[in-house]
Amino acid sequence: MKLVDTGRGLVSRDIFAREDIYGEELEKLFTRAWLFVGHESLVPNPGDYFVSRMGAESVILCRDRARRLHVFLNTCRHRGMKVCLYDQGNAQSFVCPYHSWTYATDGKLVGVPHQDPLYKGLDKNEWSLIEVPRMANYKGTVWASWDAQAPDFLEYLGGAKEHLDMALDRLDGEEGGTVVFGGVHKWIVPANWKLPAENFCGDTYHNPSHRSVDMIGIGPSARDGVKGRRDPELEHAQHLWISFPAGHGIHSAVRSTGEYFAAFKDSKIVEEYYRHCHEARKKRLGDKARLLPFVGTIFPNCSYHGRQPRALCVWHPHGPTSTEIWRFFLVDRDAPAEVKDMLRRFYMRYAGPAGMTEQDDMENWNYATAGARGPIARRYPFNYQQSLGAWRNGDPVPGVVSTQMTEENARRFYDRWSQYLAGAAWPQLLGSEA
Ligand code: FES
Ligand SMILES: [Fe+2]
Repeated sequence: MKLVDTGRGLVSRDIFAREDIYGEELEKLFTRAWLFVGHESLVPNPGDYFVSRMGAESVILCRDRARRLHVFLNTCRHRGMKVCLYDQGNAQSFVCPYHSWTYATDGKLVGVPHQDPLYKGLDKNEWSLIEVPRMANYKGTVWASWDAQAPDFLEYLGGAKEHLDMALDRLDGEEGGTVVFGGVHKWIVPANWKLPAENFCGDTYHNPSHRSVDMIGIGPSARDGVKGRRDPELEHAQHLWISFPAGHGIHSAVRSTGEYFAAFKDSKIVEEYYRHCHEARKKRLGDKARLLPFVGTIFPNCSYHGRQPRALCVWHPHGPTSTEIWRFFLVDRDAPAEVKDMLRRFYMRYAGPAGMTEQDDMENWNYATAGARGPIARRYPFNYQQSLGAWRNGDPVPGVVSTQMTEENARRFYDRWSQYLAGAAWPQLLGSEA
């Protein structure tokens, strides 16, 4: 059988465990697709850096002395040592710990110990840190691609933009204005990276996994008697599962009523803030304010949670059966301290390695990956047949849309994945004919 046969709704377990397929992903997918690297709010000042990853490789997001952003491979040009051993900080320059070659914050090689007489004739301009050829700063989020031929980031994003926007814009509907707040949660799970990526494409079917959290009330406002893991923001809403040609899968919703839903009994400041944002968003966006974000995956491995807990999640490949999860929490830059504190508590009880909801998901991904390893189990494909064929084009929003729960987004995610592994050209990877 083909590894991916979405016409019949079948995907081989091999792609979630085989070492050689993982190697191909690193070679053919992670070297080409646009990848989320970080957020400019993590590097506000000259010399600030945040060490990130692109695929399995370490990269440095850095703001140079002239305040320009760069993304460098975190490897010395001499013998490959990491030039930056820390997660985040501020540096005058990057001094390699091995033999002290020194790079400026714009990546230029500026120091080679004993250059004279040891490296006579060395042209330092040729030995700068390796920089990504393509980088985009979109509303503070920094993305990069190793493929110089990659289309512009906005073209790559396509119609997924208006959904991602809702996670990146302020709660009152004004464009941009969100920042990463608190630390970045980072942890490793024994799961293939594609399982969480497809889950965030809109796997609504997995709700029973969260039954225990839904029996109690852990939502941000956690009103008396209101159960569930989030506030009931998406009640009375038409849910939409939408996929876009570059492989992005989105789950958003259109609310039928414009009423305010939360009730923060414990804090007048928090209550006023949310009520104000709600009214201001309605005023600013009109009918469009009815569209609400839920979750989505920007192909291949960056997902967002658009309501609360508002976050960007990266599923870094860490081996065929291992994923390093990074979670960046987002908040409006000018939200009151009381709101940030309330959210900090909610984010911790919901998400991250100890989050009550996240633990349910991790357990599923861990065992599903284990279930893809056995030589007998691998003879039997996974079933992706939910709502086969039940989609419409551009109705009621742009994209391939289903108003019924579906695995269409996952099917299209794996179609795109196969095309990268087959070495397809860009027009095809964007859904156009070559
Ligand atoms: S490996 Fe960096 S200076 Fe030698
Ligand atoms: Fe979940």
